[in-house]
Amino acid sequence: MKILGIETSCDETAAAVVENGTIVHSNVIASQIDLHHKTGGVVPEVAAREHVLKITPVIEEALQIAGMTLNDIDAIAVTQGPGLLSSLVIGVTGASALSMATGKPLIPVNHIAGHIYANWLGEKPEDPIQFPAMVLTVSGGHNELVYMKSHVSFQLIGETLDDAAGEAFDKVARILGLGYPGGPIISRVAVNGNRKRFPFPQAFMGKDSYDFSFSGLKTAVLNVVKEEHAHEGVLSEEFVADCAASFEETACQVLSNKLLKAAQQYKVKEVHLAGGVSANRRLRAVVQEKIEGKYFFDASEKKVAITHAPKLRFAENITFCTDNAAMIASTAFFHYKKAPHHYIKPFPILADPNMRMYA
Ligand code: KG4
Ligand code: ZN
Repeated sequence: MKILGIETSCDETAAAVVENGTIVHSNVIASQIDLHHKTGGVVPEVAAREHVLKITPVIEEALQIAGMTLNDIDAIAVTQGPGLLSSLVIGVTGASALSMATGKPLIPVNHIAGHIYANWLGEKPEDPIQFPAMVLTVSGGHNELVYMKSHVSFQLIGETLDDAAGEAFDKVARILGLGYPGGPIISRVAVNGNRKRFPFPQAFMGKDSYDFSFSGLKTAVLNVVKEEHAHEGVLSEEFVADCAASFEETACQVLSNKLLKAAQQYKVKEVHLAGGVSANRRLRAVVQEKIEGKYFFDASEKKVAITHAPKLRFAENITFCTDNAAMIASTAFFHYKKAPHHYIKPFPILADPNMRMYA
């Protein structure tokens, strides 16, 4: 089944053609990063206008690269939410128009579920994903721990109570004068920094909580930077690198500790990283180190003995970590497979900025 996916939830206009949820025939992304660089963040009105300009050429290019026309496509998938409403509306309207014109099914997709399914893109038959899996999905706009018992079964076990980790990366980059988007720049600068120089706080949300909080960490960085400004006037390269490295390390420790604790408690076979922040090399390395160092229980629960540690997965291709439409087409396939009768004819769908992932 070939699905044309469309994604416009934030500042990327994207379209892709994916077969059976795993084979990517095309994946076109028109990024607005340069446009938002000036403002240090996304201005919704500016993003929406750009989506209007790009949506048609991006869809045409995705079909062209796939070597297909709309006749070859079996269904249209689109991000329904969460996201910026004025951005979502462009994709939802475009996808609805295509579905009406062609009579092909329209499959609405939750953006966070989309990030989770990025790990299925390029799945190899000889290395299929095993359930249950614990997924840390962490982006600029969201930050969740999700337990998956099977396809399209998402149990939210923790989320951020304030900022998402990606948002913290972006804000800290701005505080350090590094530009937008912050994640990739922070990780580049952090390579030369001292991760231990600033012992930033790791929010403790209660013994049994899998929730996150990053606003205190962001404020701690701001305070250190203000103090440095007051004493030194300007921030030295060394200070910026140490601050970026200490911040990145703290964020990675918090994220990986909760992920691994949840993986142990839920006795999962796999641990997945998803979303824009899963592109972070340090996060990938820290999670891998911890998987190797932790004890995992036998699935039979008979012994407290250790068996296989879960397998760690993340998208090797970084364009699948950040916003893209291939992940939307993949998610749509697994939803469709589970309940094809839901999508028999074109029907109206909502563009919902606040939609919860498990709703
Ligand atoms: O998934 P995404 O493209 O958009 C949302 O759904 O929010 O994620 C974008 C976020 C941004 O906050 C960006 O700074 C962060 O992902 N990001 C990273 C890295 N690459 C992107 N954060 C840390 N390290 C990276 N290498
Ligand atoms: Zn996203």
